[in-house]
Amino acid sequence: MLTARARAQPNIALVKYWGKRDPALNLPERGSLSITLDTLWTQTQVSFDASLGVDHMLLDGRDCPEGLARTSACLDLLRGLAGSHLPARVETHNNFPTAAGLASSASGFAALVVAGSAALGLRLEARELSILARRASGSAARSIFGGFVEMRAGVGADGSDAYAVPVLGAAAWPLCVVVAVTSSQAKTVHSGPGMQLTRRTSPYHAAWLATVDDDLAAARTAIERRDFAALAAVGERSCLAMHADMLASRPALIYWIGATLECIHVIRELREREGVEAFFTVDAGPQVKVVCTPAAASRVAAALGGVVGVQEVLVSGLGGGAHLLGDAGAAA
Ligand code: DP6
Repeated sequence: MLTARARAQPNIALVKYWGKRDPALNLPERGSLSITLDTLWTQTQVSFDASLGVDHMLLDGRDCPEGLARTSACLDLLRGLAGSHLPARVETHNNFPTAAGLASSASGFAALVVAGSAALGLRLEARELSILARRASGSAARSIFGGFVEMRAGVGADGSDAYAVPVLGAAAWPLCVVVAVTSSQAKTVHSGPGMQLTRRTSPYHAAWLATVDDDLAAARTAIERRDFAALAAVGERSCLAMHADMLASRPALIYWIGATLECIHVIRELREREGVEAFFTVDAGPQVKVVCTPAAASRVAAALGGVVGVQEVLVSGLGGGAHLLGDAGAAA
C-alpha cells in the first residue's frame, strides 16, 4: 500500500477570484490574492491500494459520496502523472465547519494533492502542486503556499502559467483573521456553478473583471509597505465589487443573510469611529471574515460575537503552506 498524510490550511482572498476563462481546465479569468490561515486546517490521508477496487472517500469518519467525483478527478491527474491505475482511499478531516463558506475546498484539495502525489512517489515542485490543486479548485492553488499568496491567471490555453506564487511570508506581517460564522448550513449555489452563472448573465461582469488588475497592484504595494489602511481599502472594495457582480446575476446570487450585513456595519463603525485596524471580506457564503492586526483581534472578536445571528467566532493567525505529515517528509 502507498500512503501519505498532509495538512493544508484554508485561505481567504483579499482580491477575489470570480470567473473562469476555461471551465474544463479551471483557468481563472483574472488573478487573485489571498492570505493563508493557521489554526483552521484540513488533514488528509491518501492510500493507494489495489484491493480497494474503486476510490473511497471518508470525510470526518463518514462516507462522502458527494465529494467522490471531484476527488477521483483530482486523483486521476496524479495517477496519470505516475502511470498508475491504483484506486485510493481518502480519509479527510476538517477542524472547522465544512461547506459553510470557509474555503474547505481550498484546504481540502491542497492537502489531497500534496498527500496523493507523495503517496505515488511523485516528487513535484510547489508550482506543479499549485497547478494540480487549481485543476480541482481555483482557490486550492493558493493554499499550497503560506502567508500572502498571489494567483496568476496566466494567458496560455493549457494552464501551465496559471498557478499561485508566494508574495510575503506569514511571519513578515502577522495579521489575524476573525471569522464570524453566521450560518452552519451548506451553501445553496457552489462557487463553480455560481461563477458560470454570473459570467453568463451578469451585466456587471466585465466591470468587475476590469477592477481586478488594479486591485492586485494596489494590494501588492500595500503588502510591501505593510500599509494596513491601503490593504483594508482594496480588500473591502474587491469583495463588494464581486458581490455586486453576483447580485446582478440572473437569477440573483445572494450569499448574504441579515447577520452578514450587520457584521459588515459593525466592522466599518469600529474602524471609522474608533480607529480599530480591521476590515471585512465575504466569499460565496454568509460568513464574514475580518482581517485585523493582532492587537485588534480580541476587540473584533467581541464585537462580532455580540451581533445577533452570529453563532460562533473563530480566530486565526496567518500560517504556512500545505505540507506532508509524519514520516513522509518535509513541507512542500
Ligand atoms: C468567492 O475556488 O471555490 O471564495 O475553482 O470552482 O473550485 P472553483 O472555485 P473556488 O472559488 C472561490 C471563490 C471565492 C473567492 C476567492 O476565494 O478568491
